Amino acid sequence: MSGTAEHLADPELSALINSLSRTARDRVFAVTYGGRRLWVKTAGMPRLRSSVLMQRAIAMLFRLPILLPPRNQAGALGLAAEAAAIRTLAEAGLPVPAVIACSGQWLVLSDAGEALEPRLNAAADAAERWRLIAEAGALLCRLHAAGHWHGGAQIRNFSLSDGRPGLLDFEDHALSGMTLAERQGRDLLLFLYSLVRYDRDSIEPQLPRIAAAMLRQATPDTRHAIRRLRRRMAWLLALARWLAPYAGRDVRQAAAADAAIGAALAQSAD
Ligand SMILES: Nc1ncnc2c1ncn2[C@@H]1O[C@H](COP(=O)(O)OP(=O)(O)O)[C@@H](O)[C@H]1O
Ligand SMILES: [Mg+2]
Repeated sequence: MSGTAEHLADPELSALINSLSRTARDRVFAVTYGGRRLWVKTAGMPRLRSSVLMQRAIAMLFRLPILLPPRNQAGALGLAAEAAAIRTLAEAGLPVPAVIACSGQWLVLSDAGEALEPRLNAAADAAERWRLIAEAGALLCRLHAAGHWHGGAQIRNFSLSDGRPGLLDFEDHALSGMTLAERQGRDLLLFLYSLVRYDRDSIEPQLPRIAAAMLRQATPDTRHAIRRLRRRMAWLLALARWLAPYAGRDVRQAAAADAAIGAALAQSAD
């Protein structure tokens, strides 16, 4: 940890980040320092969007903590929580960026390579795309098998470096009021839902195969958490299926993801 303290006290890096963050258009941006590419995440504001409030209301109504939106901590506390999550996962041997420094205003991370999502969009063919997706899925399973969870496991929060996937963005890691099984179940749902669009227009949908492989590796408790969620949501999901042919993309995607998850769950005996 001496490296961290050293960098925190590094006035040159602080000055560079302070000057860049005044003009940066994004909350997360890259800097080059000492010939190295680093990433800076600046403190966020708590999200109070109406969609978050709606999600919270639905979670309370169904008494389903698994559906609760992450309660984002604002400012310095949020950055410190994200740094702590990244350090814990790094110690567990999982591929996450290194925490270079964390101050009250920003979190500095090592470069984890490129983001996976643009690579998927640019992939030469569906086989290559789904090969990369399967590797990201295997990584999420490895994280779970080590007794951890992500908190924001959508495909957009994976990276790719030397052809291997990595994990990014632990802003939503603190999921208070949930059991480990609920956190892992939520990760799986977020991951699988975020993949549906890659099956659009495909003659041979790949999501059912990925869902089956991942749910097979999940703990019985995690499968149970997902089954419980689907039972409570049954009427909403039935409505989604019924509306799917006429509805917008979101509803069709939810119906497709749920069909893949339902079929995958049916394959395990517990
Ligand atoms: N350590 C990193 N290495 C490589 N790219 C990164 C890193 N941190 C962030 N990025 C890039 O910045 C984007 C946004 O960062 P992320 O941590 O996901 O924050 P948020 O989604 O809350 O804006 C990522 O999708 C990725 O493209
Ligand atoms: Mg992100």
